Amino acid sequence: MGRMPIYKLKFVSHKEEIMRKAASNTILKSSLAIIIAGMALVSASAIASSVEEGKKLAFDRKQGNCLACHMIEGGISPGDIGPPLIAMKARFPDRAKLRAQIYDATAANPESIMIPFGRHKALSDAQIDSIIDYMYTL
Ligand code: HEC
Repeated sequence: MGRMPIYKLKFVSHKEEIMRKAASNTILKSSLAIIIAGMALVSASAIASSVEEGKKLAFDRKQGNCLACHMIEGGISPGDIGPPLIAMKARFPDRAKLRAQIYDATAANPESIMIPFGRHKALSDAQIDSIIDYMYTL
């Protein structure tokens, strides 16, 4: 084996570098895909547990107690002081509006007898968010 001319060495190492970059690019892309898929799974399960929590609060006679005034599918002995909570996504596409109703119904309707759950701190912001996640399944 003779000595490789210097210009040829340079060419080989350049080619190797391109291949190495391509390989690490592929690795980077697939690890990103795995991370993104993992994040989607985590957020899907976070939403599922928030929905569960929201349902518990809505049905709990000592907390949200939405059932006292509203018919909610699956709820036992509901009141009918407020409208039935059905088709929420279709009727409240704007999450902020739904949130405002639960946070303080008297802001939109000063005569409302619905408890201003947020304003009175009967429910925390996180609890209201869980109830909204649950409402959107109705
Ligand atoms: C004391 C009775 C009462 C309780 C308890 C109550 N609401 Fe209400 N709610 C009402 C009344 C009455 C209305 C009609 C609009 C108004 O007066 O604000 C209403 C309206 C609503 C609306 C708008 C419905 C529509 O079709 O326009 C939503 C959403 C809602 N309530 C959610 C809840 C949630 C969630 C809870 C529990 C955290 C709850 N309410 C607890 C009385 C109540």
